[in-house]
Amino acid sequence: MWARRGHDAMDAAVSMPTGLAAQEEGYLRLQGVGKRFGSFSALSQIDLAIARGEFVCFLGPSGCGKTTLLRIIAGLETQTAGRILQAGRDISVLPPAQRDYGIVFQSYALFPNLSIADNVAYGLVNRRQPRAQVAARVDELLTLVGLPGSGAKYPAQMSGGQQQRVALARALATSPGLLLLDEPLSALDAIVRVHLRNEIRALQRKLGVTTIMVTHDQEEALSVADRIVVMNHGVIEQVGTPREVYRAPASPFVADFVGKVNRLQAVAEGDHWFRCGELRLRCDEGQGADFRPGRPVMLYLRPEDRLMIDVPDDHPGRCEGAVRHIEFLGGNCLAQVQVEALGGQSLQLQFSLNQMDEFSVREGARLHFALRTDRLRVFAAGQE
Ligand SMILES: Nc1ncnc2c1ncn2[C@@H]1O[C@H](COP(=O)(O)OP(=O)(O)OP(=O)(O)O)[C@@H](O)[C@H]1O
Ligand SMILES: [Mg+2]
Repeated sequence: MWARRGHDAMDAAVSMPTGLAAQEEGYLRLQGVGKRFGSFSALSQIDLAIARGEFVCFLGPSGCGKTTLLRIIAGLETQTAGRILQAGRDISVLPPAQRDYGIVFQSYALFPNLSIADNVAYGLVNRRQPRAQVAARVDELLTLVGLPGSGAKYPAQMSGGQQQRVALARALATSPGLLLLDEPLSALDAIVRVHLRNEIRALQRKLGVTTIMVTHDQEEALSVADRIVVMNHGVIEQVGTPREVYRAPASPFVADFVGKVNRLQAVAEGDHWFRCGELRLRCDEGQGADFRPGRPVMLYLRPEDRLMIDVPDDHPGRCEGAVRHIEFLGGNCLAQVQVEALGGQSLQLQFSLNQMDEFSVREGARLHFALRTDRLRVFAAGQE
């Protein structure tokens, strides 16, 4: 079995001292990687270690350097600074053909004049394998991506989702050590996208292939990644599990980019206490900033981080406010609530559709609730 072959190769690699070191320090390591296009700095000081078998997403807004970084790992672009090591081997200056990866692009990039079978076989034929072996392997791959028996078709006869499955089969054909995916789902409609991302994740788990997927869709990254690398303006803002990145954003940028967040103006009072309107709130989660008394800060709170029932009288985040607007999002709603105790600042609070009834949330209603002060994050004002 081809997947088995891949594991044999891995076993061989880890039995060598360099392989063992690579296993400990990361299967893929980027050290101080930078890229300039003329005077424009597209990437700077990228340090990252990815473990064998990990599924990592590069997440960030358009133009932040995700594709450039992926192309550097693939050898399709040359870094202007830094080193790249894969399985303990320095691949920094190797041409693409000498690196060990398969890649899938946003546009399906299949050869339109070749059959599906020939598209998938492309990398294998180049390796001069016997025809019968190639044919068996192609069948195996097409079954793996859920398209058994479609080898005789041509790309134009397939949907976008099917073409992307073929591209995936082609990328996996040689059992590469690394699978690189550059926004593979962004051209597909919402339902196919969610379906295929789950399939890619399941396939990745099954094969254990180290995978990097570029996306600017935060929900996609949160749902499939073991770890997310959040990028902005050519630098890494944070690396963490989906939960870490969502719950403990390292910067205002990450808090804003990954999920919805409320920002509240407040003033530091010292010793982890902050005044926000009439409320005095404690927040231990300050990040690298000067919180001496009198400093203006921003408190960040997710819309779901509110208590509606059993709020103790002495809860420091107790407040009430008037619902000004409701945004209907399907199973959930966001209620915009103006809160006097916060100096008239507005909060967006999230409710499921059932909770909307349970707590009588409607425009004009008054809500009594408490901020989940244990979930507050604080950043210096002006950082956002
Ligand atoms: N060949 C090039 N020459 C000059 N500038 C480039 C080149 N390739 C990329 N850039 C610039 O580098 C920056 C990063 O581009 P990149 O394609 O990596 O962004 P991205 O994060 O993949 O964005 P998107 O989500 O839109 O695909 C952009 O400002 C882009 O204009
Ligand atoms: Mg891109």
